[in-house]
Amino acid sequence: MYSLGNKFKKALVTGGAGFIGSHIVEDLLGDGLEVISIDNYSAGKKENLAHLINWGQKFKEIKADVRDYKNLRPYLEGVDIVFHQAVSKNTICFKDPASDLEINALGTLNVLTAAREAGVKKFVHASTGSVYGDTRYYPSDEEHPLNPNSFYGVSKLAAEKYVRAFHHLYGMNVNILRYYHVFGPRQDYSDVGGVVSIFGRRAFQNLPLTIYGDGTQLRSFTFVKDVVNANKFLALTDDVSGEAFNCASGVKVTIKELADAILKYFGKETLPIEFQDWKPGDIKYFNVSHQKIADLGFKFQTSFEEGLANTLEWIIGYLESMKKYA
Ligand SMILES: NC(=O)c1ccc[n+]([C@@H]2O[C@H](COP(=O)([O-])OP(=O)(O)OC[C@H]3O[C@@H](n4cnc5c(N)ncnc54)[C@H](O)[C@@H]3O)[C@@H](O)[C@H]2O)c1
Repeated sequence: MYSLGNKFKKALVTGGAGFIGSHIVEDLLGDGLEVISIDNYSAGKKENLAHLINWGQKFKEIKADVRDYKNLRPYLEGVDIVFHQAVSKNTICFKDPASDLEINALGTLNVLTAAREAGVKKFVHASTGSVYGDTRYYPSDEEHPLNPNSFYGVSKLAAEKYVRAFHHLYGMNVNILRYYHVFGPRQDYSDVGGVVSIFGRRAFQNLPLTIYGDGTQLRSFTFVKDVVNANKFLALTDDVSGEAFNCASGVKVTIKELADAILKYFGKETLPIEFQDWKPGDIKYFNVSHQKIADLGFKFQTSFEEGLANTLEWIIGYLESMKKYA
């Protein structure tokens, strides 16, 4: 839909072996770009990129840490565009907020500095709806106050501020996408992964689905291909810089509706759904405006049903293949 092939030759994706990063890498290679993935494999997996081996010289998979500026810097040479996805797992932010800050804020500063020194033309930064904190009005747009209430949100907001400073101080073309509830193939399905993948895995394994709270909490599930397209859209849009855009599909699905849809997909409606206490800090309601990016001409294309079927097909294929080799 959006092709970067005529505009850029070489891209670098941080967090390239992660869930969203690996989809960006794959898509850019399809556009004919030379692509470098940078990842320290703390959460990313080699297998997320294994299918790209046939791209040969076009694709370089580098093990490097965004906290290590000296090591990082040479990889930016000759790069036209950066998609910065690397992030600490938000589950570590309680246990180790200092490393959260180092990866998300210092890591972003390092990638920005290296990109600027190397003369990179564009920088698209992955942020999160967590930078807003408790929502004060709906639908919440980008003018909403930024009062994150988690260490993860604070460190991601610091990262955003560095990104914007590079626009103001150096005139670098940088933009920010605030993702919400992204789902799709290759998302972590372990117990600390994404809810769609966790429910999909548990239904496949005939295990009960667990809902924290009463299941009425609303999510704006956004299919990963739409997130990739939003990144590419901003890469192709020249007359904006230093801006943040909500990247939420607008879909509104409750967790109970999600559980029901997954059980129906598997034909396992009799599998139990277990309700447990609310998780502390769980946000019950999302109504996020994506009008700002829509006004530029971007459209979220994938229906929730289509994205869900695509994700569950992948989970089934993946878990079947694991059984074969077990
Ligand atoms: N998945 C979502 O629903 C969601 C929602 C909001 C925001 N985001 C943002 O999207 C981006 C990508 O998230 P994801 O869901 O693909 O997560 P992910 O954990 O799958 O990917 C992140 C990648 O970063 C790598 N990484 C971690 N620390 C690193 C370091 N120090 N140096 C180099 N690489 C490092 C990890 O190994 C991993 O491969 C992040 O910036 C995240 O904040 C995601």
